[in-house]
Amino acid sequence: MFGPSSLRLLAAALTLPALVSAGFLPVHDHDHAPTTTISKLSPDAKWYHRRDHRAHSLFARDAADNSTGSFPAVGSPAWSAAYPQSTPDSSKLPQAWVDALNQAVQAGKIPNIPPSTTTGGNPTYPSGYDPMSSQVCSATYKCRNPDDIWDAPEGVIGSGFDDGPTEFSPELYSFLKNNSIKATHFMIGVNILTDPAAFTQAYVDIQGDLAVHTYTHPYMTTLSNLDVLAQLGWTMQIMYDSTGGKVPRYWRPPYGDSDERVRAIALEVFGLTTIIWNQDTEDWSLTSGGTTMQAINSSMTQWLTGPKTPGLIILEHELSAQSVQAYMDAYPVMIQNGWKLQSVAGIQDGDIYREDGSILDVDNTVSATSSGASTSAPSTVSGSPSTAHSASTTGSSSSRASGSSTGSVSTTQASSASARWSINSALVACVAGMFFTLA
Ligand SMILES: *[C@@H]1O[C@H](CO)[C@@H](O)[C@H](O)[C@H]1NC(C)=O
Ligand SMILES: *[C@@H]1O[C@H](CO)[C@@H](O)[C@H](O)[C@H]1NC(C)=O
Ligand SMILES: *[C@@H]1O[C@H](CO)[C@@H](O)[C@H](O)[C@H]1NC(C)=O
Ligand SMILES: [Zn+2]
Repeated sequence: MFGPSSLRLLAAALTLPALVSAGFLPVHDHDHAPTTTISKLSPDAKWYHRRDHRAHSLFARDAADNSTGSFPAVGSPAWSAAYPQSTPDSSKLPQAWVDALNQAVQAGKIPNIPPSTTTGGNPTYPSGYDPMSSQVCSATYKCRNPDDIWDAPEGVIGSGFDDGPTEFSPELYSFLKNNSIKATHFMIGVNILTDPAAFTQAYVDIQGDLAVHTYTHPYMTTLSNLDVLAQLGWTMQIMYDSTGGKVPRYWRPPYGDSDERVRAIALEVFGLTTIIWNQDTEDWSLTSGGTTMQAINSSMTQWLTGPKTPGLIILEHELSAQSVQAYMDAYPVMIQNGWKLQSVAGIQDGDIYREDGSILDVDNTVSATSSGASTSAPSTVSGSPSTAHSASTTGSSSSRASGSSTGSVSTTQASSASARWSINSALVACVAGMFFTLA
């Protein structure tokens, strides 16, 4: 399944950050870099919480969090030293995170369901825990919690890319900038650590939206509450410190693997809303022979010339030259067919907060446009395992899911001593795991 060349490619993406030349750092820095200071909140950006959101207090450390405070320069030794070099140790977490988790558990906000296991690559639960039940509601099995985002509004493509930054990101960023495309970059914490120049290009140069894709890319439902906390918290911390104090509002689980427990920790502790997808190019498997440029062209053509309800959230990656190329090839077809492109973190209109500072259920915003047409949703997806969460009464859920596929592969989740190996194996597991996601 994974030839040596694809493994080398993955390794290269993660071990050669120096290839991303310092030339990508813009010369027209305003208030962001190199010593990042608090920048003015853009009224347009929807990817981070307002300053009064409760989650800010979880990431303010030392003297950094005030309007005149400064943060270590992104990429500097002081910056690098502040974060785990590989899988975070959940016995050494900031007390504020642990306290917030304990508080949420005591308040009954975190469902007490057991972690899954991934023997054979398939996250499974102990007997008595049905992944399709409202109690578990596993996104891997396409159970949709109505508070999560799977679809875009009618006529909209919610643009986003996973697994960056990598050595292939700069080409994509250049293309996005040239075409004034706003996208959400679901970043892996250790990839930010190893590729600060590409991170800075995404944040400063192209002003991309940032979202959390965990620290080392595990199957999140397999983890303990504290390990979930560590994976999300450290990714948010490095983003916070590297953006002058911005707290991201969205995350996407690796392999789309989330459930009621994991999503509750993300939302209730950190204020993160979950974004999944409704179509998958399988572009992550281009370098391993899983799919071809031609196959992607064919799927893309079908989606882009098909019905506009619901809008598209397509799983795409900044993981290889080919995956970036596949996107660039498809872009003119998106425009020709009248799609409106929006950063997927921007598709929820307006800032709607609950009393406690978390985001209100904004599903209505999305379903208002998609529900009317769900009866005419393409029949090509019938038979997929998608189903609505029991609480979903909006009619917006389950009208369209990722196409089902018979592909599957077994994978083991590598644990490792060295950071580099850990990163590589995480990505190999990513690629392998995606096969399951489709299965
Ligand atoms: C605010 O930032 C300044 C400059 O970095 C620092 O000296 C000061 O201690 C900070 N104050 C607080 C209350 O964090
Ligand atoms: C973006 O435009 C610049 C300037 O015209 C060009 O050099 C660069 O190759 C373009 N990037 C892409 C990916 O097309
Ligand atoms: C598919 O390939 C054809 C031929 O190269 C090209 O004209 C078309 O724009 C491509 N479509 C997509 C969606 O990439
Ligand atoms: Zn991923």
